[in-house]
Amino acid sequence: MKKVLVTGGAGYIGAHTAVELIAQGFEPIIIDNFSKSDRSLLAGIEKITDKTATFYEGDCADEKFIQMVFEKEKGIKCVMHFAAFKAVGESVRQPLMYYQNNINSLLTVLEAMNKNEVKNIIFSSSCTVYGEPDSIPVDESTPFKKAESPYGATKQMCERILEDQSMADNNLRVISLRYFNPIGAHPTSMLGELPLDVPGNLVPYITQTAAGIRKKLTVFGSDYNTPDGSCVRDYIHIVDLAQAHVAALSKMIDSIDLKSYEVFNLGTGLGVSVLELVNEFIKVTGIQLPFEIGARRSGDVEKTYANPAKAFEKLGWKTKLTYSNALLDAWNWQKKISKING
Ligand code: UFG
Repeated sequence: MKKVLVTGGAGYIGAHTAVELIAQGFEPIIIDNFSKSDRSLLAGIEKITDKTATFYEGDCADEKFIQMVFEKEKGIKCVMHFAAFKAVGESVRQPLMYYQNNINSLLTVLEAMNKNEVKNIIFSSSCTVYGEPDSIPVDESTPFKKAESPYGATKQMCERILEDQSMADNNLRVISLRYFNPIGAHPTSMLGELPLDVPGNLVPYITQTAAGIRKKLTVFGSDYNTPDGSCVRDYIHIVDLAQAHVAALSKMIDSIDLKSYEVFNLGTGLGVSVLELVNEFIKVTGIQLPFEIGARRSGDVEKTYANPAKAFEKLGWKTKLTYSNALLDAWNWQKKISKING
């Protein structure tokens, strides 16, 4: 079985990817320090797959810790580097924490890979690298704009570091996956998003409001230049996103037609407004979600959605699930963790 080191594997995207790795016969070696994640997601992976993934608790910016893992787990074929802080607002308030964590962890992982001759890495990037795009849908050749937040800047910097390192080391292969907006939960309701604080993202805020944890949702802005005035995003089901990682890994291991540094957009290609998403949630769940229209949130991009053609052409991957599926799965997950019947 091919070992894959999954940093941040107890997080939302990492845990769903671990499930898909196991389903395709890979052996995820998970590391996490639980700074933004919860142990219960590891139990979720086990329940879905009936397998106990190897797990190490620690920080991947800790050189000694990472080296210990590489020494114990000889033969790692690829690193999937999910571990990072990802809250846009928090990054504006605490930029140093974001630069420290997100940049240092990547540098430490790359150093350790170099030392231990591990030559494949898949990196969690984000559509945030594009900023407010001049035209949509966005394809991978769209030039970066100045990042809207320190979080976005760390993703741009990490991509640059990876590209430079891939040029310096002829044997290194890198794939950066630029996620659009991942939402939803595993259809079994054994895994899902578990924000440790008040959710900053739309869908966990919606499901927590529906569960009665929050009073009402505020839709940030209704005066954007979009059909209904609210922002437009490309919402991708978390299981589709997780499967894209396995498609990228398989291609990376087996094929020679990828360049040493490749980037792929991961999205559906469909732009959906905040109000459309809210109304779809009401429709699929039958819950009258309390919401109000509020002021714009600073730093928000008006509209963006992916051109995901390259991922289909080169990885043979495209989304299979819809945002309606994702909303229902997210709600089922919320009901489970909030112990709501029905
Ligand atoms: N929104 C609301 N009310 C809320 C929360 C969000 O109206 O309570 C709106 C936002 O204004 C935005 C949309 O819902 O228009 C989506 O917001 P999210 O916070 O869910 O997602 P973002 O598009 O802001 O951010 C996401 C990821 C980031 C990533 C970014 C790239 O969370 O990690 O996409 O644009 F960097």
